[in-house]
Amino acid sequence: MKSFQSLSNLATRHFQRGIASEARSLPSSPSTKYKTATHSSDTVEKLSDVTQATLAKGKEYLLPVYARPDFVLSRGKGSYVWDSEGRKYLDFSAGIAVNALGHADEGVAKVLADQASKLLHTSNVYHNEWAGRLAELLVTLTQKEGGLGYSAAGNTTSAGAKVFFSNSGTEANEGALKIARKVGKDRWAANASGRTWDSKDCTKTRIACFESSFHGRSMGALSVTSTSKYQIPFAPLLPGVDVGKVNDFERLDSLVGEDTCAVIVEPIQGEGGINAAQTEWLAALRKRCDEVGAVLIFDEIQCGLYRTGTLWAHSSLPVECHPDIVTVAKPLANGYPIGSVLLRDSVASTMTAGTHGTTFGGSPLACAVGYHVLSRLSERPFVGQIAETSAYLSGRLSQLPKWFPNTLQPEIRGRGLIMGLGFKDTKDPSRLMSLARERGVFVLTAGKDAIRLVPSLNVGKEEVDLAVDVIESCLGEMQ
Ligand SMILES: Cc1ncc(COP(=O)(O)O)c(C=O)c1O
Repeated sequence: MKSFQSLSNLATRHFQRGIASEARSLPSSPSTKYKTATHSSDTVEKLSDVTQATLAKGKEYLLPVYARPDFVLSRGKGSYVWDSEGRKYLDFSAGIAVNALGHADEGVAKVLADQASKLLHTSNVYHNEWAGRLAELLVTLTQKEGGLGYSAAGNTTSAGAKVFFSNSGTEANEGALKIARKVGKDRWAANASGRTWDSKDCTKTRIACFESSFHGRSMGALSVTSTSKYQIPFAPLLPGVDVGKVNDFERLDSLVGEDTCAVIVEPIQGEGGINAAQTEWLAALRKRCDEVGAVLIFDEIQCGLYRTGTLWAHSSLPVECHPDIVTVAKPLANGYPIGSVLLRDSVASTMTAGTHGTTFGGSPLACAVGYHVLSRLSERPFVGQIAETSAYLSGRLSQLPKWFPNTLQPEIRGRGLIMGLGFKDTKDPSRLMSLARERGVFVLTAGKDAIRLVPSLNVGKEEVDLAVDVIESCLGEMQ
């Protein structure tokens, strides 16, 4: 890890030079440059024998829970990936908002290799050199840049924070829900003092979540993922879940009541369609949670860690809107699996030895990589570049609804580098995704009616131009 600083400086210089902030003016008409499908889904028979054999193995042995296109990704660099036939794609999905530093980053690869040959896993029975350092970095950045009750201006409603490491976003949310359940029991017991009580009698166990949310696929996380196509095949789910609507002020009081122990919400819904919660509504939600003693959880697994341009999507909001718990995962180790739960000391104090755990979470390898990635993401030039690139992306996307008024909804969605385009016809997002892929650009769908752009955070304006030129060409084809 000795060379971390020099690698990091090198990466920053490269970033500053390579993705220089040259002024670019917006085009005056939509691009038609990418009318032809250059990466069309060839019939499988035209692919090389090796590619055909790889696809056949996947089809025969992998559980078919994904409908994948017929090509095999074999390497990547920066914002680009190549398939086994040598075709190059611009990855404007970053492995679903994961590869913040792009593919095959040299700094990440070096930390992975160095740490893997030193100490990969120890279990949580023992301390390791990296878990505490990464936890400290997460907490101190939050204190400095705002979040979890701390404001960048220095005022705070928080007395300290702790971190629990998991292996994925789903597991981070499971941990957060379990912690909130236990806090609910403590609070219920405190109110029931003087009476003899049994934990089984506790009624403060209900959890509130929101329509179009996505929190993961395990039974607990799925129970608060309010999308019927994900839930129905696996019902019955966790009982005691109440579902509200983001930005609905009127039903907040009935949604969050005395029996509510937890409220879980994404400040910007990713999978559900790039839907942002309003600041005033988050403040009302926080106030209601305080009135009834419910734990407020922000799932920032997709929108956190500088994706919106600040450490957390809620960093720039007044502390009166901040949650008790933030869950994090996707980009924290740039693709190496890791998740984490950050929680204020006021709720952390309920968790004592033995109340929660994991075999792999917080391993020296995951945390060394996480430390390296978070250190680089938080560097000032990097954060400045996100602001500049995202402003340019936003400017280009803002032109599209007026050029394609019959296809697109009038408003573009999201902020920073989590942006979406809404469509009038719900069949169009997946059509656009396929057309763009056939022209060498990966985008994602979101919810029923949107496409989602979540590129690497070090993406350049050149890549923004390529992605939007391709999207425009596809929209032209779809007219
Ligand atoms: C907001 C949000 N929460 C939770 C998850 C689940 O994370 P994971 O797939 O790492 O378990 C996701 C994944 O897309 C997500 O976007």
